[in-house]
Amino acid sequence: MAYYGRSPVRILHGEALQPFNSLALQASADALVTVATTEELLAACRWAQQRDLSVVPLGQGSNVVLAGDLNALVVLQQIPGIELIDQRGDTVTLRVGAGEDWHSLVQWSMEQGLYGLENLALIPGTVGAAPIQNIGAYGVELKSFVHAVHAIAIATGEQVSLSASECEFAYRYSVFKGRLQDRLVITAVDLRLSRRADIHIAYPALAAQLADFPGKEITPQQVFAAVVAIRSSKLPDPAVFPNAGSFFKNPQLPAAQASALAARFPDLPGYPQPDGSVKFAAAWMIEYCGWKAYREQDLGVHPEHALVLVNYGNNDGRQLLGLAGRIAASVRETFGIELHIEPRVYG
Ligand code: EPU
Repeated sequence: MAYYGRSPVRILHGEALQPFNSLALQASADALVTVATTEELLAACRWAQQRDLSVVPLGQGSNVVLAGDLNALVVLQQIPGIELIDQRGDTVTLRVGAGEDWHSLVQWSMEQGLYGLENLALIPGTVGAAPIQNIGAYGVELKSFVHAVHAIAIATGEQVSLSASECEFAYRYSVFKGRLQDRLVITAVDLRLSRRADIHIAYPALAAQLADFPGKEITPQQVFAAVVAIRSSKLPDPAVFPNAGSFFKNPQLPAAQASALAARFPDLPGYPQPDGSVKFAAAWMIEYCGWKAYREQDLGVHPEHALVLVNYGNNDGRQLLGLAGRIAASVRETFGIELHIEPRVYG
């Protein structure tokens, strides 16, 4: 037990990280600490700073690939709390602790009659991790609800707050993956939700799931239930089949390149973007190349969704990245498209 500042932080040494990443990969960290307050987080950052160790924050580890041991202090982020900080007309602003479970927050918001997050149900991970990759599903992205993100600067302990525009959100991207990568630990996220429903059900899989309600007014609760049903049927539960969700991002091509690709592969699903570019389904390309349900050495591609790599007991992050590299190479050969890995690789 080490004491820094006023708050004690319990630093564990040489800890195995397998329980702390949803791919259940084997790796160890020089040191590991759990923090439940900003003071504990500050103390942990100072402890690492004094030892010249880098800080690696982890929520539920649901979007990381541990490809080796980490020469770092891993900080398990468990800062809790949901606070109503503003209410104007139908708009309610919540400040949510970074350690809160994302899906529990979505469920809670539905129960409170606070709408907006229903399309983002059942996404694994914490609230603090959500802005980093701007989580998105079924036609909705987190960026539409973020009012501000609060964080601690690892090097100085300074508290910083970023507005939504300062977060530079884009598809599976934010400033936390760019210029500010490895510099901050997010402590809380301010989210703006609404008491008025604003339904988004144009995404094909969601529209199909809700087809039983033709002409009727769809409620956010029904959208929530539909998203939970789709995700449960297609995406493996990490507790049963360790995975990190989509392993690759969907590639986005400028209009001219997109129409050439669509002409070569007319069945390839594409989603036109407001700027004229088209986002294509990487899962379809991977399946077309014959990888769906592929299995080797206790690693594989999920039988129900080709974008999801599964660890069936291999536990070696480098081998998993090797398989991902071969999948990307075959997509490059067949489609001339470069796939990019979605989760953050450490080690
Ligand atoms: N498809 C295939 N083969 C498959 C799976 C899907 O051909 O094995 C086809 C589907 O038929 C569909 C298209 O690919 O036409 C898109 O599939 P899906 O609706 O499942 O979505 P996705 O593009 O594969 C993205 C996100 C998911 C998110 C869903 C729903 C990325 C990288 N992934 O997947 O996010 O849940 O849309 O919005 O953008 C994640 O990021 O971890 C994640 C699961």
